[in-house]
Amino acid sequence: MNSLKRLAKRLAKAVGLEVHRRRLHVWTTYPQAARFLYFQRLFDRVNQLDGDVMECGVGHGTSFAMLAFLARHENKGRHVWGFDSFVGYPEPTAEDLAGTRKPKKGEWAGTTVGDIQQLFVDTRLDPPFVQSNVHVIPGYFQDSLSAFTGSSIAFLHLDVNLHASYRTCLEQLYPKVVQGGVILFDEYEGGMEFTKLPGAKRAIDEYLAPLGEIVQRDPVADKCYLVKKNPREA
Ligand SMILES: C[S@@+](CC[C@H](N)C(=O)[O-])C[C@H]1O[C@@H](n2cnc3c(N)ncnc32)[C@H](O)[C@@H]1O
Repeated sequence: MNSLKRLAKRLAKAVGLEVHRRRLHVWTTYPQAARFLYFQRLFDRVNQLDGDVMECGVGHGTSFAMLAFLARHENKGRHVWGFDSFVGYPEPTAEDLAGTRKPKKGEWAGTTVGDIQQLFVDTRLDPPFVQSNVHVIPGYFQDSLSAFTGSSIAFLHLDVNLHASYRTCLEQLYPKVVQGGVILFDEYEGGMEFTKLPGAKRAIDEYLAPLGEIVQRDPVADKCYLVKKNPREA
């Protein structure tokens, strides 16, 4: 079987094509269902608030598609924004390398904006909604986040793993989150994330502590989030 695969790859390469494994987004696993329900619990909390939905760290698009489902189901016309370099991590810093996971530049590369668009076709989420309300923006955050043209954010999912990436996202986006809006941190204290990627929690604490913001924990999902209380001083 492996030799057949190698032969197919070589033949494709000979005519200028590249073969990639098609990723299956299996949502019917318990962890993915639990993640969706966690998003839904917090999404219900912003029900009365204006503002868009945003994810930094689209990766393979799994959680991004969940957020788009929730926004479509709510049917309030919110826009859904997804940001990722699509070339993987930038260079990790000492804060990240202090953990056991030792992330490397370029990890998570391999997904394209086209793959995310195809994912939305595969999920069969309402095509007119996707066309008009879902935005996928490539680039490193420090360059790309300025492409957000909405007026505010009600629901922000940060799944960016690295210290500098969390810092950039919080510095640029926290001021745009409405009071009572929710910011979800995929890496904070839940599970093994703290020992694996300690730069994430460090960046979140560094940014939030002076603002007096309190991170809360969802005991079911074992993930952490913030309900924004204080508007940031200019
Ligand atoms: C853990 S993955 C996201 C997984 C995704 N939420 C999912 O459900 O498939 C983290 C992503 O953050 C992106 N990322 C991290 N730092 C970044 C930065 N500074 N600029 C742009 N993308 C970044 C990586 O490219 C990677 O795709």
